[in-house]
Amino acid sequence: MSVMNIGIVGCGSISGIYFTNLARFKGTRVTACADIDLVKAESAAARHGVRSEATVADLLHAPDVDVVVNLTVPKAHAQVTLDALRAGKHVYGEKPLAATRADGQTILREAASRGLRVGSAPDTFLGGGHQTCRRLLDEGLIGEPVGATAFMLCHGHESWHPSPEFYYEVGGGPMMDMGPYYLTALVNLLGPIRRLSGSARITFPERTITSEPKRGKVVTVETPTYIAGIMEFGSGPIGTILTTFDVWHSTLPRIEVYGTEGSLLVPDPNGFGGVPMIRGKLDQEWRPVELSHGFAKNARGIGVADMVKALQTGRPHRASGDLAFHVLDVMEGFLDSSDSGTHYEPISTCERPAALPVGLPEDDVD
Ligand SMILES: NC(=O)c1ccc[n+]([C@@H]2O[C@H](COP(=O)([O-])OP(=O)(O)OC[C@H]3O[C@@H](n4cnc5c(N)ncnc54)[C@H](O)[C@@H]3O)[C@@H](O)[C@H]2O)c1
Repeated sequence: MSVMNIGIVGCGSISGIYFTNLARFKGTRVTACADIDLVKAESAAARHGVRSEATVADLLHAPDVDVVVNLTVPKAHAQVTLDALRAGKHVYGEKPLAATRADGQTILREAASRGLRVGSAPDTFLGGGHQTCRRLLDEGLIGEPVGATAFMLCHGHESWHPSPEFYYEVGGGPMMDMGPYYLTALVNLLGPIRRLSGSARITFPERTITSEPKRGKVVTVETPTYIAGIMEFGSGPIGTILTTFDVWHSTLPRIEVYGTEGSLLVPDPNGFGGVPMIRGKLDQEWRPVELSHGFAKNARGIGVADMVKALQTGRPHRASGDLAFHVLDVMEGFLDSSDSGTHYEPISTCERPAALPVGLPEDDVD
């Protein structure tokens, strides 16, 4: 298999692991990077032994870039992705696919009209923890899935993040920020969602930053910070999700799936490994399950490697634009439902991504 050339746009906090892992996978090689902040691009380029481009446009038009990896901030995702598609490049981006359903739709249309691929994080569902859970479900170890719960509770990020304002702006909030991990994990396990409802509130209309360097700055909260949703999956189960920045303490698990024959405790979807736990209907206790799949350490970028492999063999890729758009549609749907007081039926659907085979080497995807 030949290697495809990757250009990274956005050389901030998350970019390091992409530079490292995309140099490790057999099918990918990073050739260039760019950032609106040239100093950041130059320092990443020096650190990782690649070329930095003077402008983002230069990178998008570079002949030795086949796939653009978009690691910019969420509000820039759509524009950078669209510019890359219009320059004729395949694109894989960090989550969310875009800040709005409308922008997500434009991206999918642009890619389809040009015959280009779009992929999106999260790719944690391809990690050993979640692929093992997928196998347990597919093998019927808890019977027919009946329901699932997903909980992400915390008190927000103004106590530690240096620039936390975006968490409280429209397009931020706990659902847009963390929902992609939880919902992508659920769609991987149970398939797409056909109907949902949500209730949402803003509990604290203002937040005071207590981290440096913006200590004391007051932020007006523009988006709900407590969002509770009910989801009906096309395959039958009913899911419950709660994402919030309003709660100080909780003992709730991250994700559980309930079946006719038992229950499954799914590891943190914001990670690649973890220990799944299963308890059949007659079991006295939960028991840990050994991981059947690899990629249990920080394998961020496996979604890119999978897309590259898919491009070369002509198969669908797993962390796909369709999957990310469905998740975006559902996330916005919870807020729409809360505003309208009615159920929301997603305008999107997607294929459940194919499970990874067992026994893959750590530097290659099937
Ligand atoms: N930091 C994390 O732990 C983490 C984890 C998972 C996912 N993510 C996601 O990764 C993405 C990036 O997050 P981050 O923490 O690295 O943010 P960051 O602010 O550290 O880095 C983003 C970089 O993008 C650059 N940028 C912004 N707009 C741009 C544009 N229009 N063109 C070119 N460059 C532009 C910025 O200058 C910055 O260097 C986000 O979507 C975030 O949700 C971050």
